[in-house]
Amino acid sequence: MPARLGQGQWALGYREPLNKNEQVKKDNDGLAVRQRIIDVYAHRGFASIDPADLRNRFRWYGLYTQRAQGIPGGRTAVLEPEELEDEFFMLRVRIDGGQLSAAQLRTVAGVAGEFGRDVADVTDRQNIQLHWIRIEDVPEIWRRLEGVGLSTTEACGDTPRVIVGCPLAGVLADEVLDATPQLRAVADRYIGDPAFSNLPRKYKSSISGCTRFCTSHEINDIGLVGVLGPDGSPGFDLWVGGGLSTNPKFGQRLGAFVEPARVPEVWAGVTGVFRDYGYRRSRQHARLKFLLADWGPERFRTVLEKEYLAAPLPDGPAPPESTVERDHVGVAEQRDGRYAVGFALRTGRTSGTQLARIAGLSEEFGAGRVRTTGQQQMVILDVSDVDGLVAELDAQDLPVRPSTFRRGTIACTGLEFCKLAIVETKVRGQWLYDELERRLPGFDEPVTINVNGCPNSCARFQTADIGLKGQIGRGPDGEDIESFQVHLGGHLGAESSFGKKFRGLKVTAAESADYVERVLRGYLERREPGERFAAYVARAEETWLT
Ligand code: HEM
Ligand code: SF4
Repeated sequence: MPARLGQGQWALGYREPLNKNEQVKKDNDGLAVRQRIIDVYAHRGFASIDPADLRNRFRWYGLYTQRAQGIPGGRTAVLEPEELEDEFFMLRVRIDGGQLSAAQLRTVAGVAGEFGRDVADVTDRQNIQLHWIRIEDVPEIWRRLEGVGLSTTEACGDTPRVIVGCPLAGVLADEVLDATPQLRAVADRYIGDPAFSNLPRKYKSSISGCTRFCTSHEINDIGLVGVLGPDGSPGFDLWVGGGLSTNPKFGQRLGAFVEPARVPEVWAGVTGVFRDYGYRRSRQHARLKFLLADWGPERFRTVLEKEYLAAPLPDGPAPPESTVERDHVGVAEQRDGRYAVGFALRTGRTSGTQLARIAGLSEEFGAGRVRTTGQQQMVILDVSDVDGLVAELDAQDLPVRPSTFRRGTIACTGLEFCKLAIVETKVRGQWLYDELERRLPGFDEPVTINVNGCPNSCARFQTADIGLKGQIGRGPDGEDIESFQVHLGGHLGAESSFGKKFRGLKVTAAESADYVERVLRGYLERREPGERFAAYVARAEETWLT
């Protein structure tokens, strides 16, 4: 394959760094920055931070400088990093599987309140992201988080990021298996392991045994999906190579069955293939999906089995298709007869104060178990007095039965804190669902609206019914106007597809509610009985959608 020679694949002997990020990782491993933060930077302050640590290795501990306040989106592409960045950090706390005890949540809440101006975001990968963090406070923050078994290790960077898992793992009656032991085994053994701390790029994992696929295994680098194996016992179907960003790809099945005991071995094997064979020349082509696109699943499986596993994997079945909503808002009965109560935040935005209240409610009404979801929502488990809890949550503006619009709207970090952003997102998303609730009262078809501040797709615009991708438009006098490119009809599951982009289909942010209202009214008028929005879009004439 001469075309791929010189892609910086370690396994082929290309060890010389071919770009700056690779050089930085070779010079000094990302994990080594922790001690410098504790010993040096926390004492000497922001100005003392080596730029290679600040803009690269800090990510290995979930630290990312936030956008300086007041810089408009039109300046994002023209300013230098030092002009865009603030002296404050975003800090991502990893919550593998979205599983939190009340004590853990209360600790995160306290950190947000004391060190992060009381701002907290539940992200679409089940993490909690804080803002306004000062480097001086980071050692104390780690001390508190680690004291309750949480960490920020490898929450960002070219590493194994948070492992997403079903928030209702272990409690739902209809799951294929509770994947918590496998998820924990991988996280405990391999997160922070120097064997996997220098990957070609970020690496996202999903390990889940639920039947509604709320963790979106199709768009993770590795997805282990609960299935019944060849002999009828539960295990996992293995998917690799999914991811969104500017070049989205669905993961592909390798056709292999992974019995539960082999999950850590197989996870390490796939991650090893990525580390050793992944392309390290261009950051744009460094994700696992590009290797898979060149190799195909068969070759990938052969290399995995021959070079990385103790024994080949048996063939296994595909998971059954699921068309139910992939979220966990509302009340679900647990197999022990108690209830899991899921509620909506406001596009993931919350506060330390509110998180502390949620921790308290989980103790008062449940057993102190809380979950974050991949849809920027939360769940309290083990509830008996559902009505009592629902009333308390409602009083906090945390609805268990939110409108379709509030339930289905997520938003990325956006212009408020993100240096790559072009438009504002969180407040825009909240405005949008408020407007739609007012304009289309009683609308109860499930619709997802994903608001993104730039093409990187942290809020997954390609897989939403209505995906909004921020960009700058031009006003009548040539001025910059916040706008969105619209992608319609994206969905995962049966016949999954990325949203369609119509030529020239842009709306200004201010007109976005008018536009969405118009498209949804057209859907209500023209849809066939039982027809979902994505199916309607697939057969719609262009004029119905513009
Ligand atoms: C090259 C740059 C980036 C790319 C390609 C990118 C892409 C993505 C993608 C595809 C997701 C995953 C969504 C999912 O699978 O559920 C994600 C998650 C996320 N991204 Fe980014 N992103 C980039 C930079 C950033 C930056 C600079 C920020 C903020 C300052 C950011 C904030 C987030 C957040 C908060 C999440 C939720 C994920 C988590 O909890 O790990 N991203 N990103
Ligand atoms: S989509 Fe763009 S603006 Fe939004 S968080 Fe990701 S990088 Fe930032």
